[in-house]
Amino acid sequence: MSHPPAKDELGPKVVDARFVLGVPAAAQLPPPTLMEVAFAGRSNVGKSSLLNTLMQRHGLARTSGTPGCTRQLNVFEVALSEDRRFHFVDLPGYGYARVSKAERRSWGPMIEGYLRERPSLRALFLLVDVRRGLEDDDVALLEFLTAVRPEGSCRVYVVATKLDKIVRAKQKPAVEAVKSVAKVPVVGFSSETGAGRDELWRRIEKAAQHADD
Ligand code: GTP
Ligand code: MG
Repeated sequence: MSHPPAKDELGPKVVDARFVLGVPAAAQLPPPTLMEVAFAGRSNVGKSSLLNTLMQRHGLARTSGTPGCTRQLNVFEVALSEDRRFHFVDLPGYGYARVSKAERRSWGPMIEGYLRERPSLRALFLLVDVRRGLEDDDVALLEFLTAVRPEGSCRVYVVATKLDKIVRAKQKPAVEAVKSVAKVPVVGFSSETGAGRDELWRRIEKAAQHADD
């Protein structure tokens, strides 16, 4: 990409977005009435920031420079139009060394329970820092998902985020490097510039159409 994305390249307009609730366990989630999309990844990788960019709502999902900001399953309802409504689920981050061991362990069952039990989950976006690529715990999460979900029930994508942190000329090669090891499609993204937002929405809508088949 030789230029920052123009406004009309950034994707669809969100007509409604609101926080529904945050819960400590999948069993307490609202009924699975809408197609659901979840966002997973290491602490501080930018899940909540990405959600705000997708939803065009600055600050609706809480973000922080301090890892471990999101500690529950946070559910949002998002609409592109009256009949294109989705649940987005912001998952707690994992794997950050500065968070206490007990806390790290407490999030594992929450995320695993969610991935295992949520029937309406149709797409999972796994965020990785484009400068670090997939790490062991990211691979473990993908393997867990494959093991517990019926085949084809949940589309999986990797998002290589914080693209703006590297110089433009190196962005494409960096995303390619992530692609070369990921076994699923990879989308380059930045919450700062909005790059990749359009592609993420296209993939979400595609998963929704598939769900309606
Ligand atoms: P946890 O909830 O702790 O798991 O973190 P998270 O993955 O939700 O990350 P969050 O969105 O809170 O962002 C963490 C930090 O990274 C914040 O300081 C954000 O401003 C910053 N950040 C997130 N996305 C981007 C991005 O695309 N580019 C840049 N430059 N900074 C980003
Ligand atoms: Mg967060």
